[in-house]
Amino acid sequence: MKPIDSAKLYCDGRHYDAQHTDVYGDLSFYSSQAQRFGEPILELACGTGRLTLPLAKEGYDITGLDISLGMLKTAKEKAEKENLNIPWFHADCRNFHLAKKFNLIFIPFNSFAHIHDRESFEALCSCVKKHLMCNGHFIIDIFNPDLRILIAENPKRHKVAEYKEPNSNEKVLITESNKYDRSTQINHITWFYKIGDSKEYPVELNMRIYYPEELVNKLFYNDFEVVDRFGDWDECIFQSDSPRHIVVCKKRI
Ligand SMILES: C[S@@+](CC[C@H](N)C(=O)[O-])C[C@H]1O[C@@H](n2cnc3c(N)ncnc32)[C@H](O)[C@@H]1O
Repeated sequence: MKPIDSAKLYCDGRHYDAQHTDVYGDLSFYSSQAQRFGEPILELACGTGRLTLPLAKEGYDITGLDISLGMLKTAKEKAEKENLNIPWFHADCRNFHLAKKFNLIFIPFNSFAHIHDRESFEALCSCVKKHLMCNGHFIIDIFNPDLRILIAENPKRHKVAEYKEPNSNEKVLITESNKYDRSTQINHITWFYKIGDSKEYPVELNMRIYYPEELVNKLFYNDFEVVDRFGDWDECIFQSDSPRHIVVCKKRI
């Protein structure tokens, strides 16, 4: 099983939050899935609690699990400020043991692309199965790979985000370049951080590309049955040009 290689990217949750202030479109999706499948809920790779906190605020019994202490620190601070009693677990989603089972487990916002190899995929599935109630559901939400972007020749470096540095208030500019390896299906992305006038520095982000049929077949061979597939957070039908591939599945009996 390959080690997780995203530690540097997720070392400070305050940067993550500052960078993602405009991402909220998925909350109504998870809110409706929570209503559909019930609680308790487990969010894998919960990060800074971008989704965990609002779902807890809606009254759901939700637990957050993440491998990054920096992300969890921010999540805990925000939850404390809002008086939300959320259990947070520092763990690898490929190897966790909680004394609880869940009606809904989800791994949102492309976090599944951090699962790079077959062993990691199988380990995650095995943990999820152990923690799902008999009729519990598991949701994976990743982008629908766009080959035109992945294999574009000499892709230009482009802007990804701009925000204020949480301590100094200086401008942070992130630009991105990528190289997609067609043999491993890993998209090797580099984010270049430029903070104020200081020299820019690179941070790696390696995303495993899961093609739609590959993902549902892998789930099948790991004893999951697909219940629904959506093409975006508005629950539209999944099709060729869908921006996202959201798979809702349950244990195959
Ligand atoms: C794109 S962020 C998503 C955070 C949050 N769920 C959200 O939607 O804003 C990806 C998260 O995956 C976490 N992560 C990566 N590999 C992991 C692993 N093996 N186990 C648990 N968390 C992991 C990172 O620490 C990071 O917080």
